Amino acid sequence: MLERQDGRYSNTPETDLFLDRAKPSYIGGILEMANARLYPFWGLLTEALRTGKPQNEIKSGEDLFEALYTDQARLKQFMHAMTGVSMGSAMAIAHKFPWQNYQTFIDIGCAEGGLPVQVALAHQHLAGGGFDLPVVQPIFEEYVASFGLSDRLKFYSGDFFADPLPRADVLIMGHILHDWNLDEKKTLLTKAYQSLSKGGALIVYETIIDDERRQNAHGLLMSLNMLIEMQGGFDYTGADCSSWMRDVGFSETYVEHLAGPESMVVGIK
Ligand SMILES: C[S@@+](CC[C@H](N)C(=O)[O-])C[C@H]1O[C@@H](n2cnc3c(N)ncnc32)[C@H](O)[C@@H]1O
Repeated sequence: MLERQDGRYSNTPETDLFLDRAKPSYIGGILEMANARLYPFWGLLTEALRTGKPQNEIKSGEDLFEALYTDQARLKQFMHAMTGVSMGSAMAIAHKFPWQNYQTFIDIGCAEGGLPVQVALAHQHLAGGGFDLPVVQPIFEEYVASFGLSDRLKFYSGDFFADPLPRADVLIMGHILHDWNLDEKKTLLTKAYQSLSKGGALIVYETIIDDERRQNAHGLLMSLNMLIEMQGGFDYTGADCSSWMRDVGFSETYVEHLAGPESMVVGIK
């Protein structure tokens, strides 16, 4: 983590890039949240495995997002943690997906807007934004403005179960599907399919588990984290996601590795 030269310590190139809070490439938000929230909850893993029940704020009867979102400091910490979790994949998606074939994109459940910012920075011709619950709007707008992208990236406010999704050539769902049970996952995929025009694409990305469920330990642990954090949430393989996408109507799907433990599953309408 550190270099030592002549008795003085300095960052390595990696810590300088990823663990300097002043840099947009900072990924430490997730470590801060693990420290403040997840560590004590994982102490209850045995109970989670025995009962199949969440072990976080939900235990006291609160809805996770409601519990997080009524406290402004916790909300900001969570939004910032998401940017940290997603930065590697956001940069990989900005470069690996064929954006030249599309004009508009919207990140569904965008949090602070880490992914839309990376995509917009890499592709001047694209416009779009992010969709999330109303409380997220000021945090998204402040983050986007800090990159000078407010003219191309707008916030779309709504609830993805209660409202239709906004229309765009490309919709993205990052770390969304694993929060929900199978019926809810399929509802969200169906709504994405309905909002895309023909030829449009849905990008689902997170710690997609390898089809044999042997290699991607991070994805398997993330699935346990969903057991602790959510009612019915779980991580899944690329083959699982492709088959759900085809069930709801997508004509073509492919899985592509992004960065570290994360991959994307792309469905073409
Ligand atoms: C785990 S975070 C993922 C954030 C971001 N996509 C990423 O990967 O960094 C889930 C996001 O879904 C949003 N969300 C949860 N329930 C929602 C709902 N019913 N409608 C819209 N957004 C919702 C949350 O506010 C949060 O930003």
